[in-house]
Amino acid sequence: MWVYNEDGELVVQLERYAMRAFTGGAASPVHYHQVVLEPVATPEPAPWPASVLIVGAEEATAAALAALPAAAAAVTTTATPAELAAGTDRVAAILYLAPSAPATGLEEIRAGMAQFLAVAKAAPRRLVGGGRLVVLAGAGLAPLGAAVNPLQYAIVSSARVVSMENPRVVVTAISDPDLDIERAVTLGLTEQLAGHKVLLSADGVLDEAVRPHPAALPVRVVQPDTHILVTGGFGGIGMEYVETLWRDHQAHAVVFGRRSVEDLAASDDPVDVAKAARVTALRAEGMQLRFVACDLADKAQVDAALAQVAAEGITIKGVVHFAGVPDNGMLFRKETADLEQITGPKALAAVHLLDALGEQVDFFLAASTMTTITGSAGAFGYSLANAYLEGLARAGTGISTVRWPGWKETGMALAFGIAEAEEDTYLMRSMTTNEGREYVRRTLSGVFTDLIAGDFAARAGEILDPYLSYADASSPASPSASSAPAGRPPAKPS
Ligand SMILES: NC(=O)c1ccc[n+]([C@@H]2O[C@H](COP(=O)([O-])OP(=O)(O)OC[C@H]3O[C@@H](n4cnc5c(N)ncnc54)[C@H](OP(=O)(O)O)[C@@H]3O)[C@@H](O)[C@H]2O)c1
Repeated sequence: MWVYNEDGELVVQLERYAMRAFTGGAASPVHYHQVVLEPVATPEPAPWPASVLIVGAEEATAAALAALPAAAAAVTTTATPAELAAGTDRVAAILYLAPSAPATGLEEIRAGMAQFLAVAKAAPRRLVGGGRLVVLAGAGLAPLGAAVNPLQYAIVSSARVVSMENPRVVVTAISDPDLDIERAVTLGLTEQLAGHKVLLSADGVLDEAVRPHPAALPVRVVQPDTHILVTGGFGGIGMEYVETLWRDHQAHAVVFGRRSVEDLAASDDPVDVAKAARVTALRAEGMQLRFVACDLADKAQVDAALAQVAAEGITIKGVVHFAGVPDNGMLFRKETADLEQITGPKALAAVHLLDALGEQVDFFLAASTMTTITGSAGAFGYSLANAYLEGLARAGTGISTVRWPGWKETGMALAFGIAEAEEDTYLMRSMTTNEGREYVRRTLSGVFTDLIAGDFAARAGEILDPYLSYADASSPASPSASSAPAGRPPAKPS
């Protein structure tokens, strides 16, 4: 039963066993944005620099060199990523030709990510001061609705981290279906595109822009009595999804994670103990909440966990993929194993789960972050892993991603002091759990590909200005600022 005030705002939801009251008298309003590509003026191309190194697979770099005009080719050399790392001489510009991999080829994806790490680490050492890194991919970006290659999308979307950790290196990320090397270098080196992530074609330049999401989300219903896999379901945000599955949809959850309810109950951390109590309460209400211990970074463990669930007669009908670990280390110290600690449970696990369950599930929802827009020093793997999920979504695999701002009362951001931080130090306003729950409800019941949830902070325009253009949707007049529900609750009864 839904209880509304005279202004039509939901104030109380009466459910089978529980009542949820919304503080402040109403459900929080929700604001969505998205990243789109918009045409911008094509800059006057920069001259070919004094020395250029084209880095990538041997065959691809040889073809790139052969396609250059003679004058440019005369000052251009090629290197594999290993040669880039081993060499010592410096050049004015590096052009990295990103590899591609099929969306389900785990080993190729892993190898492609490791290669990009090697290039991201080595490139600053091989560039002169003020040198330029141009990252070029054939299918890294596409207008919303057109397919990208997920690995290439992830690479162009996390390239900015290199310049954040090496301020004397300027990075431009370019997607160009024609792989026109001369165009990529001469436009990539312009001041106008420095720091940007753009799509080039013979028709001109498309640059990224953050814009209000155009409308309320179309509704998708989670079926009652179905089982939904929630990875990281005992984490801060995952727990909210678990509870919402039951409270709003009477659906059951299979949780994959490393720590069991017993581990949480025995923890010294009162937050863990409170989560264990919530699990006990949900089970007492009738929710089937099955936990299977597994390390999501380990394919064999995931396979065993899925087999165990299937053997118990449980058919998973949806996936909420919220497992993840934060990143905290500068690129120059990172090895492939460090990278896979971050990409494993998030990006690689998603590929594997999609492969194993894609045919049988009604939806697959995954968590991403604003870091894929701005980059973040110390978070190369985190940016790459989250961007890979967005790339999967934009590749048309059926995954939906939500870029979350920081949650300030639960979850991994607490360890970074988000609760104490000044609001305007962040790109977005951090969320209370109550605000976050409203997005949890709607993202679980809505149909979308790529969404930014929450409100931008006052300084957002200033923070985003070096990278892309931005228009806010948080003003009440905005069409996407409507608090009209995307799924439940239903429209106000007449
Ligand atoms: N909190 C935020 O402010 C925020 C902002 C943007 C995006 N996100 C994203 O939202 C998602 C949830 O974040 P959160 O704040 O809820 O984080 P959290 O509280 O740290 O929960 C993450 C969960 O992931 C599980 N996990 C991590 N590595 C795993 C592995 N190798 N195998 C199995 N399970 C693993 C953890 O379970 P175990 O402890 O059992 O291993 C934990 O329950 C993450 O993907 C995060 O990147 C969060």
